[in-house]
Amino acid sequence: MQRMLHYLLDGTLVTIRPIEPGDKGLLAEGLRRLTPETAYKRFLSPKVRFSDAELAYLTEVDGHDHIAYVAVIDEQLVAVGRVVKTAPDTADLAIVVGDAWQGHGLGSWLARLLAAHAAIEGVTRIAGTMLADNRPALRVMKQVSSDIVYDDLSHGVREIVTRLAA
Ligand SMILES: CC(C)(COP(=O)(O)OP(=O)(O)OC[C@H]1O[C@@H](n2cnc3c(N)ncnc32)[C@H](O)[C@@H]1OP(=O)(O)O)[C@@H](O)C(=O)NCCC(=O)NCCS
Repeated sequence: MQRMLHYLLDGTLVTIRPIEPGDKGLLAEGLRRLTPETAYKRFLSPKVRFSDAELAYLTEVDGHDHIAYVAVIDEQLVAVGRVVKTAPDTADLAIVVGDAWQGHGLGSWLARLLAAHAAIEGVTRIAGTMLADNRPALRVMKQVSSDIVYDDLSHGVREIVTRLAA
């Protein structure tokens, strides 16, 4: 898929493109710039650096069972979103937007793009796992689809599954 240009709600122009193996440095730098709180919300554990194996897993994706996009502003990676199939019809959605860029519509836009791409690959159910009080993440999940087929809250973590429209 080609690069796409997207305007944030404040008018900033963002380049959105599929992640590439050559993005390992950008990804590592992107994680270093996240606040600990944002990194924790994304990974549900403290995360300060990626191992080489993690960087390979996160950037060397097949575009079918594992689809990932990056958002770039001024050559800096400002957001990453991915869907990873866990069954032929189900995929986990995970997104992180850099702290300075949160609340500008980027997470919602990435989520809808990823859901559309996943649907082309046969996915009909999108799953997400988030801290129980993470309202923006829940909103993003509901923007993908308001048809919630599973919603579980346990030990401060919420798991939600939505069904995509046919
Ligand atoms: C969750 C996250 C991806 C959302 O992306 P975003 O670009 O900040 O969110 P958007 O601007 O697209 O807004 C999405 C929704 O959250 C709401 N929202 C955004 N920031 C908010 C805040 N600080 N408090 C409450 N609601 C907020 C928006 O109003 C919007 O809801 P709406 O559709 O009802 O208007 C982003 O905040 C993030 O990276 N958080 C840390 C990592 C994380 O939590 N990832 C999700 C689990 S994998």
